[in-house]
Amino acid sequence: MKVAFALAVILAALTAYYVYIPLPSTVSEPWKLMLLDAVFRSIVHVGNLANALGLTHYIRVLNYTVTLDTLGPVSTGDLRVTDTNFGGVEVRVYEWMGGEEGEAKRGVVYIHGGGWALGSARMGSYDVLCRQMSVELKAVIVSVDYRLAPDVRFPVQYDDALLASKYFLQPHVLARYSVDPDRVGVSGDSAGGNLAAAVAQQVATDSSIPVKFKVQALIYPVLQALDFNTPSYQQNQHVPILYRTLMIRFWLEYLDADPSFIHPMLVNNHTSLDLSRVDPSRAKVDWEELLPAAFKKGYKRVAPARGTRRVLEEVPALLDPRAAPLLAERGVLARTPRAYVLTCEHDVLRDDGAMYARRLEEAGVPVEHVHFADGFHGCMTFAFWPTHFAVGARTLENYVSWLDQNL
Ligand SMILES: *[C@@H]1O[C@H](CO)[C@@H](O)[C@H](O)[C@H]1NC(C)=O
Ligand SMILES: *[C@@H]1O[C@H](CO)[C@@H](O)[C@H](O)[C@H]1NC(C)=O
Repeated sequence: MKVAFALAVILAALTAYYVYIPLPSTVSEPWKLMLLDAVFRSIVHVGNLANALGLTHYIRVLNYTVTLDTLGPVSTGDLRVTDTNFGGVEVRVYEWMGGEEGEAKRGVVYIHGGGWALGSARMGSYDVLCRQMSVELKAVIVSVDYRLAPDVRFPVQYDDALLASKYFLQPHVLARYSVDPDRVGVSGDSAGGNLAAAVAQQVATDSSIPVKFKVQALIYPVLQALDFNTPSYQQNQHVPILYRTLMIRFWLEYLDADPSFIHPMLVNNHTSLDLSRVDPSRAKVDWEELLPAAFKKGYKRVAPARGTRRVLEEVPALLDPRAAPLLAERGVLARTPRAYVLTCEHDVLRDDGAMYARRLEEAGVPVEHVHFADGFHGCMTFAFWPTHFAVGARTLENYVSWLDQNL
């Protein structure tokens, strides 16, 4: 009995030790976030272990777990839901059917997040999101099930997202879905925000695509891999659920790079000042110029004079705007549509989004940059049961109402 009691106490202490992490006091519902993080962290640990034992790639363990709640295409009431493919890319289409016969609807191409390696349009949280968007906007939502790492690498994820978008933007396809060609947008969260921004740039500049997007809506997007020491990377490196090391690991998987590059990249050795091929891109990620003072706080730039040449030699895609849309030329940005950029204070990617909003604005694009002071990375997909966060619900409401007013 005594032994059992002692074991229970030890177990409780270990659990508390595992679950408890110091969090900034301004983050939304910190205890809930700690629990969510403990679950997520333990899955990462299991994945790492399986990887080390040679059983499977760690990403597959994560993907398996986060997609346990995938759902079939279920139509209800005024909503018709179908799984199909657009130009060979799997998509789930949500059609609002409540209007008059033949009445033109709005359309949104939605690209889910998950570090280019996790998730699916069929996941419960994305399914709920797209249903809600379709009904509230009286729109057709195309949720893209692009292929993921480690099965495929850059640029396949981007190509899939682009191909599905181009297919949808054809006049006869839009007509088939009763979508108004002047009212189609592209959107996505996290890595899906990365793909949405890159696709928006390509569609805007490709003269062979007759129909253009009216808006781009980017939810805490990941947009650059040159500086892993922006103020938000420094400030939030240990804030769940997207730790800085995990974000770098996602980049390395997407670009099919040596996993050991995480060490030079953590200290910005891959973009050290002696690497002249980075020079044309430096101003585009210069947070000292691009960020408001409130975001810079007391942080110091990390710019080593000498670094690790091998990284850029082996991974030139780090400088490719299709992978890192923040590196696009001003002339390209200028042609992209009206933008909504949502950022969260407790997110390593806060400054990626803020810098992009600023560069779009400088290029003359109308931009709404909405910042959530108590938000954390991923919160919008945690707006639904059983992981309901109040800040998630607020981001969702803000996002959908922006689309309603601007699309
Ligand atoms: C990730 O999970 C989804 C849903 O279960 C699956 O369709 C996809 O193939 C998985 N991706 C990889 C790379 O294993
Ligand atoms: C960064 O580069 C310097 C200079 O080449 C090297 O001495 C140092 O070990 C590198 N650090 C990492 C973590 O790769």
